[in-house]
Amino acid sequence: MCIKMKKTNEYILYTKNLKVHFSRKRKVVPAVDGVDIFLEKGKVTSLAGESGCGKTTLAKAILGFHRPKEGGIYLNGSDITLNKNQSLIRKNIQIVFQNPFSSLDPRYSIFSSLYEALKVFPAKGGPASGGKKIKKSECKEAIIKALAEVELKPDVMDRYPHQLSGGQVQRVCIARSLLNRPPLVVLDEPTSSLDITTASKIMKLLSRLQKELNLTFLFISHNLKISKKISDHCFIMYRGQIMEHGPKELVYNNPLHPYTKLLKEASELKLKRLKGEDFLSQGCPFAPRCSFKRQECSQKLKQVEVEKDHFVSCYLY
Ligand SMILES: Nc1ncnc2c1ncn2[C@@H]1O[C@H](COP(=O)(O)OP(=O)(O)O)[C@@H](O)[C@H]1O
Ligand SMILES: [Mg+2]
Repeated sequence: MCIKMKKTNEYILYTKNLKVHFSRKRKVVPAVDGVDIFLEKGKVTSLAGESGCGKTTLAKAILGFHRPKEGGIYLNGSDITLNKNQSLIRKNIQIVFQNPFSSLDPRYSIFSSLYEALKVFPAKGGPASGGKKIKKSECKEAIIKALAEVELKPDVMDRYPHQLSGGQVQRVCIARSLLNRPPLVVLDEPTSSLDITTASKIMKLLSRLQKELNLTFLFISHNLKISKKISDHCFIMYRGQIMEHGPKELVYNNPLHPYTKLLKEASELKLKRLKGEDFLSQGCPFAPRCSFKRQECSQKLKQVEVEKDHFVSCYLY
């Protein structure tokens, strides 16, 4: 599928026809199946879709954790698809995962966890400014600064993850991801494991940090309501493919694809997956669930621009 884009140098990162397939019980699982997404510098791009649609696989492929079967990933114009330059990726992209407790080593104090990250790529402008390698004895100040950035008190650094709440541990993970001032941060459902009040505080924190530090976010969520608050541009994913994308206001206020409409309606309810539904070899992956399906839906997906900058892959348009 070919997505109309601005000049590629306007994007910090873009993917082209990206495919990551797994095999399970002798069947192919096309977790990411020909995805083109693009992330504008200094903006929040959200990737929304129900559980199992391939969001984490796409994020991990961008970070070089999965080897794509086909297609490309470009960071500031450089091809990073086959993960040839790990240090370039680590310097430029950090990730915050859904479960903060499994992201930190339980045997390490918060100080040690942050120190491990800090010593890898000390960045100019980061809490350990200067861009030079930093000694353990020197970095206390930088770690206090990093904790303050996520509204945590200095004494948190002497604690272990199990001594903190889920919200506090997620704040530590956010602080760690920002230590070396990566221009791009991937947030993979950063609030899904938290209660509503804590989640809303974390969203406010992320929003503030993104603006203050002029970061680019890829914000992943299964909940449209949550991603609506933070994003500028939104991609809707279903079964490894992009169903619709456009500026936030257009996608949320005028959803075009039947799946986007369903996701919007159900943003507070859990969508049920149909049992026994197999991946289709071609055509719209949403067709088996769609009340508007027609014959054309079994053909290869084609993207149309229904209104300026608002794209949908659906034969209704
Ligand atoms: N390492 C893996 N091996 C095999 N299948 C996988 C693997 N990781 C993910 N999958 C499958 O790929 C699909 C997409 O998974 P995932 O990217 O985790 O979805 P999401 O993050 O949207 O919930 C699912 O069907 C999942 O079971
Ligand atoms: Mg996931």
